[in-house]
Amino acid sequence: MWSNPVSVEAMYGDWGLGADEGEAGVDGDFEAAVEILARSLDPRPSKSIFDTIGALGIGAGDTVLDIGGRDGLHALAMAGRFGCRAVAVDPVEANVTRGLELIAHHEHGHLVEIRIGTIEQIPAEDGVYDAALSRDMLGHIADPAPAFAECLRVLRPGGAMVVHEVFATALLEPEEERRLCADIATYPERLSVAGFESDVQSAGFSIESLDLIGSEWSEASQESGAAPNYLLQVSRLRRARERLLEELGEVPYRVMYGNALWSIYQLIGKLESRVYVLRKP
Ligand SMILES: C[S@@+](CC[C@H](N)C(=O)[O-])C[C@H]1O[C@@H](n2cnc3c(N)ncnc32)[C@H](O)[C@@H]1O
Repeated sequence: MWSNPVSVEAMYGDWGLGADEGEAGVDGDFEAAVEILARSLDPRPSKSIFDTIGALGIGAGDTVLDIGGRDGLHALAMAGRFGCRAVAVDPVEANVTRGLELIAHHEHGHLVEIRIGTIEQIPAEDGVYDAALSRDMLGHIADPAPAFAECLRVLRPGGAMVVHEVFATALLEPEEERRLCADIATYPERLSVAGFESDVQSAGFSIESLDLIGSEWSEASQESGAAPNYLLQVSRLRRARERLLEELGEVPYRVMYGNALWSIYQLIGKLESRVYVLRKP
């Protein structure tokens, strides 16, 4: 960012930050800087994606697909917020089993269905959905062309697809990307912004809008305490590698490590979150 190095004199000198409060001097300046950085920048939480969906005008009478919808939690949230019907599709049986249980006991469960399926083979008739959501799942897809073609098939003409994905920035080194992706079942190619934008447009979607979330969601989850301290997790996973590998097993060890880095890399700008609204003609 800067080509000139900070000198020792400047680093330990008087920054003048606390001068107004009569706290001038090295310690006062450092504390003043810490205080400035303790102020929240009011990052949006991840549920801001529902504002994007709301802006599409989704309401009662509409049906929304959540592809890679895990246990239907987001489908339930959309049903609760918009009064729409929502269908979550996920290939992992344990997710669907948990989802059926959730839906059965949820006040908006009557509006929600959860089905086994994949983005490559969505269990639905043509043109039945008013909108589709894909949140943090396209990284698992080997070939995006049939996946986006299938999304287009199940959307009605003029329907919208809201996609949240995490992408690499220029700060992510190739070896970091390779290791991270291997640990969290992700195809490195899916981390490319240019690749994504070209894939969706080749499939026949137009890109209607882009919301550059960057690190906001990760920052918000750290501030609220909703997310664990990922830095501490990585430190422990590294320091007690052998013991934790044995205690957790290889896959949980690697997934926990990768998941923590996924968030840390967003916080330090190696990855960035984006929300796209795509439109079927
Ligand atoms: C990181 S999770 C995200 C879950 C949820 N969308 C969310 O944002 O919390 C990725 C999800 O994608 C699902 N998934 C993996 N491969 C898929 C595929 N080919 N088609 C649809 N979903 C898939 C996984 O089972 C998992 O539930």
